Amino acid sequence: MIMTQADLLAKIAHSSRVYTTGSGTQICADSREILPKLPANSVDLIVTSPPFPLLRKKEYGNEDQHAYVDWLVDFAKAAKDALKDTGSLVLDIGGAYQKGRPVRSLHQYLVLIALVENVGYELAEEFYWYNTAKLPSPIEWVNKRKIRVKDAVNTVWWLSKTDFPKVNLDPVRVPYSQSMKRLLKNPEGYYKPKLRDSGHAIGKAFGQDNGGALPSNLLSYPNSDSNGFYIRTCKQLGQRAHPARFPAALPEFFVKMLTEKDDLVVDIFSGSNTTGRVAERLGRRWLSIEESREYADLSSIRFMEGRELDEIREVYGAVKSGRCPQL
Ligand SMILES: C[S@@+](CC[C@H](N)C(=O)[O-])C[C@H]1O[C@@H](n2cnc3c(N)ncnc32)[C@H](O)[C@@H]1O
Repeated sequence: MIMTQADLLAKIAHSSRVYTTGSGTQICADSREILPKLPANSVDLIVTSPPFPLLRKKEYGNEDQHAYVDWLVDFAKAAKDALKDTGSLVLDIGGAYQKGRPVRSLHQYLVLIALVENVGYELAEEFYWYNTAKLPSPIEWVNKRKIRVKDAVNTVWWLSKTDFPKVNLDPVRVPYSQSMKRLLKNPEGYYKPKLRDSGHAIGKAFGQDNGGALPSNLLSYPNSDSNGFYIRTCKQLGQRAHPARFPAALPEFFVKMLTEKDDLVVDIFSGSNTTGRVAERLGRRWLSIEESREYADLSSIRFMEGRELDEIREVYGAVKSGRCPQL
């Protein structure tokens, strides 16, 4: 069923709405309260980055890992009802060390197993986000004692309700390698169709230009934005930017691959609303839910690019005062 912006807003108390745009709404609430209000089978994609355990609790041992899993399972259950049968849940979860030990936490794997075995999601595919700009940490094990290497990869679980969620790889094709470009220029001269050792037949189809190569499940994006519009404007307004943002390229990959125009994209831990901004730019409808009023208010800045600082200050003031302006 297609749910219009008005249908969606009718389900959500006015007091929790922070701002709207032509195609989306920012909500300030606990997602566990909002998700059950969404009609069943209405959401095409939930793409999100939950708070990492280390941000929630400084001590992080075995017991806490299980508490974290139980906590996240509650959200995932409610999310499953809201998702269409063709929909997907994409979870970006970073790794962590156990407190005071050079031993890794297993929380992201325990979450995955719980979501598949207990909640009934399918693991469509696991992705790895390589943050090419990650600084070495934790200092004790990596920089000082030099007994562990830099941890620069997050796991990203692509989960679905069925074996065949909606997917289109064409919008996420990547540039061809140099050798593939040479092959495409002169398929006849470059290789002879033959059977590889692996048994794969390398036929004429390999010489066909599809506009780019299929991507792999290793996504390399730096998380290094220190002077983008959101950050710059936060500084100009004397506000502290959200401290745990993901780069726009990460949700963008999944929004392009798993949805089409006018589909509904939801972020249930929206922070600075990177996901909503990406969805708006790509012509998708969006709903973002963030528990902290401060972060939700500040995320409105993302939709004010191109405006004068005075006007931004005024609109941000309207957002903060609870007037829920349309940006
Ligand atoms: C890792 S941050 C997400 C950052 C986001 N991806 C971005 O690019 O800005 C996780 C966010 O989840 C929010 N959060 C924690 N518990 C929540 C809940 N129960 N409902 C909604 N948001 C919650 C936190 O306040 C935090 O801003």
